[in-house]
Amino acid sequence: MGWYGEWVFPRLLDWSMAGQPFADYRRQLLAPVKGDVLEIGFGTGLNLAYYPDTVTSLTVIDPNPGMAAIAQPRLQRTALKCQSRPLRGERLDFPAHQFDWVVSTWTLCSIADRDRALAEIHRVLKPGGRFAFIEHGLSPDPAIARWQTRLTPLQKRLADGCRLDQPIADLIRRHFDLDTLVTEYAPNLPKTGGYFYRGVAVK
Ligand SMILES: C[S@@+](CC[C@H](N)C(=O)[O-])C[C@H]1O[C@@H](n2cnc3c(N)ncnc32)[C@H](O)[C@@H]1O
Repeated sequence: MGWYGEWVFPRLLDWSMAGQPFADYRRQLLAPVKGDVLEIGFGTGLNLAYYPDTVTSLTVIDPNPGMAAIAQPRLQRTALKCQSRPLRGERLDFPAHQFDWVVSTWTLCSIADRDRALAEIHRVLKPGGRFAFIEHGLSPDPAIARWQTRLTPLQKRLADGCRLDQPIADLIRRHFDLDTLVTEYAPNLPKTGGYFYRGVAVK
């Protein structure tokens, strides 16, 4: 990973994803989360402030050391019992059936092998465990979808592998039953990056 991906991109991400509407989405998604929790693609730790005290342990993974450098002081300040590991979603180095919830916020877009990561998330969840997600992805509007396909090569370079054109709900349904799903354009974001899928899937 180069200087841009490890130093510039984490700071850009932290600055651009800390404000509204992201904070409201984070709070709402994380409100029901409890027990032993795994967050994949933890980034700079912007979700930390929104975990409820029903969480008994929080394990976070992210492969980018530049993200971890910003997240670390935040992890040290939280009252939650946390551990951080430099892992990829495609290979979760945890036993099967370890977690009550897995959380992913705007991360599936950046994972190269999304199918493998979803299979891993399924494996590490307890039976009946839940996967809370909010992701941007493929728009149902063909004109927007065409732009998402055109812009994805540039987006991948600027945002560390992030794709704009992923059919998030279809990917998740290959591994889980969807308990809730809301799809919508987020306010004040370009439609190519602002078509959000959010919900909870059940093992
Ligand atoms: C757009 S950022 C979102 C960060 C954070 N989830 C948030 O909501 O602020 C995507 C994150 O996914 C991480 N990532 C990239 N490839 C990954 C992989 N294969 N497995 C897990 N995380 C990955 C990146 O390092 C980055 O921190």
